[in-house]
Amino acid sequence: MTAASSAPRQLFVTTALPYANGPFHIGHIMEYIQADIWVRFMRLRGHEVHFVCADDAHGAPIMIAAEKAGVTPQDFVANIASGRKAYLDGFHISFDNWHSTDGPENHFLSQEIYRRLRAKGLIATRTIDQFYDPVKNMFLPDRYIKGECPKCGAQDQYGDACEVCSAVYAPTELKKPYSTLTGATPVMKSSEHYFFKLSDPQCVEFLRAWALDAERLQPEVANKAREWLEGDSGLGDWDISRDAPYFGIEIPDAPGKYFYVWLDAPIGYLASLKNYFARTGRDFDAFLADPSTEQYHFIGKDITYFHTLFWPAMLKFADFKVPNNVFVHGFITVSGEKMSKSRGTGISPLRYLDIGMNPEWLRYYIAAKLNARVEDVDFNPDDFIARVNSDLIGKYINIASRAAGFITKKFDGKLSMAWATQDDRFLSQLRGAADDIAALYEAREYGKALRSIMELADHVNAYVDANKPWELAKDPANNARTQEVCSRLLEAFRILTLYLKPVLPTLAEQVESLLNIAPLQWGDVYNALPDQHIVQAYAHLMTRVEPKMLDDLFEPPAAPAEENAAMAVDTVGAIEAIDAEIKIDDFMKIDLRIAHIVDCAHVEGSDKLLRLTLDVGEGRLRNVFSGIKSAYQPEQLKGKLTVMVANLAPRKMKFGISEGMVLAASAKDEKAEPGLYILEPWPGAKPGMRIR
Ligand code: MSP
Ligand code: ZN
Repeated sequence: MTAASSAPRQLFVTTALPYANGPFHIGHIMEYIQADIWVRFMRLRGHEVHFVCADDAHGAPIMIAAEKAGVTPQDFVANIASGRKAYLDGFHISFDNWHSTDGPENHFLSQEIYRRLRAKGLIATRTIDQFYDPVKNMFLPDRYIKGECPKCGAQDQYGDACEVCSAVYAPTELKKPYSTLTGATPVMKSSEHYFFKLSDPQCVEFLRAWALDAERLQPEVANKAREWLEGDSGLGDWDISRDAPYFGIEIPDAPGKYFYVWLDAPIGYLASLKNYFARTGRDFDAFLADPSTEQYHFIGKDITYFHTLFWPAMLKFADFKVPNNVFVHGFITVSGEKMSKSRGTGISPLRYLDIGMNPEWLRYYIAAKLNARVEDVDFNPDDFIARVNSDLIGKYINIASRAAGFITKKFDGKLSMAWATQDDRFLSQLRGAADDIAALYEAREYGKALRSIMELADHVNAYVDANKPWELAKDPANNARTQEVCSRLLEAFRILTLYLKPVLPTLAEQVESLLNIAPLQWGDVYNALPDQHIVQAYAHLMTRVEPKMLDDLFEPPAAPAEENAAMAVDTVGAIEAIDAEIKIDDFMKIDLRIAHIVDCAHVEGSDKLLRLTLDVGEGRLRNVFSGIKSAYQPEQLKGKLTVMVANLAPRKMKFGISEGMVLAASAKDEKAEPGLYILEPWPGAKPGMRIR
């Protein structure tokens, strides 16, 4: 008998290419774990899977980060790339290749695809007006423009939407716009841009057929695609060019023009495959030309648009294979909180490994929470401990520890499996689940797959409790029975291990060597351990997670040096230009005093303010509200000296009267990193002293 298994397929699988501007965060690792489980499952089924990824090297943010770090963009991304392996090996991610979108293959393929699109009449040029930074001499991507909200007047709002009143607008509508790179006022400047004509009827027709095919995208993804394709505005042409200076790939026959990073990024999937095939002596063109080759991309929900519209259309009209499907996942949150760009999630993947947490715990936990829908996944420490200790260890690992010891001690490792030739209801039940579990893995319903497997483990544990091998083993008269019961349990353990192998690859390897068997393939579900087979002495397979480890995991500092370095580069905010000149008399109007922070407290109902009680040596205390809550805890400030404006007119605020203002330093955008810093005088200064 063999498990039903389809004919071998050849698959090309990718995960999204991470921006090479920082180390991996837990969101990346989650995506890799999801894809890796699927890939390993497909390989266990006997399919040929080529699983590749690469760094997404291009674009303005990386160019600017490199400049700030004082290195070339090439060196900058190479440095990030050199840190990747520790994570990928650490979490057992089985990529066949890791490449870069700045590699020669990607330059070649991007230009080739562009030429083919142009030959089909799908490239147009148009002159557009855009904000330009006259100090830095470059066009400004929207994210580098801020100004006053045109609706409510709030300051320092991004060019697309106001965080205060939620108004949505174009960067050109901002009042008093400024470049966050230099603080300069941007000017409008026109330049010629290249467009991919997605609005062309043949593109629209193709995308409708591809994206709305009922067999293809996840229902919620298809709904989005339908909105995009059939909404009132329809598909617009896509601006694929950027002007120098830009870190990217040059557009053929267009001096000074580069492909927008999102044009060459997905082509990086093909470039990585091409690089890998060249390295291993395979034929890239033949593989892609083969109609039986299947192509799948795992991505997060934020980049659906690029992958379900631009990417299939680019491939289609450049005469490449189009993706069979795009598998979209939600985001990982930690204890219900979204990740913040600057603070991450509080879970550093490297720290997780450094403090000795088992990577397969995380693989198991994430798998247990994943399904085929675009739902966010929450990492909850208590839930993590429960799933690992109660399910993984309590239900599964314990089966081996309860059976293998007796086989070693009493029977020199020898199994008795003669009974197994007959139909065995207990094992048949375990084996009978193989096709259902396989279908769940293939459909990316990992949570359901693991639940089925744990139900089977419950059956096995019920068998243990009913047969009590530890009781049987007490009396040598029961030897035959003891040996049979323990052998049956090890066979059951073998089957469960096979089912868990996509999720727990190194644990499965340990079990294979414990059981003294060749690497398990899916079809081995029916290949029972043979009679008289000798297994190795039981060695501990997996330890329980200690709750203390999760405290360590979340402890804030001591982040790996690499992460700090990247953060520092990423977070230097724009420094404002110096204000207009004033006379000394103007300055002397401001009465600055040393203030003693007698008390400091949170303000109920405000997420921005702290309430300071200040002594400036005038025989009374002042109440001052200060918007520094994002940067300081009250305990940090209590008892310190600082500087305040002592002659500012009192101001009535929602929470009471504020009698002055404390001073703090920040870059132009005080909300962005590196944040806000209040002033502290040198030792010796006393409350009430004037600053002049
Ligand atoms: N460089 C682009 C992708 C180009 S693909 C041709 C990019 N990079 S990214 O580093 O920002 O994100 C890489 C992947 O990580 C994306 O699929 C993204 O959705 C995913 N995630 C980013 N944050 C995430 C979570 N918090 N949780 C899960 N996945 C998340 O986008
Ligand atoms: Zn506003």
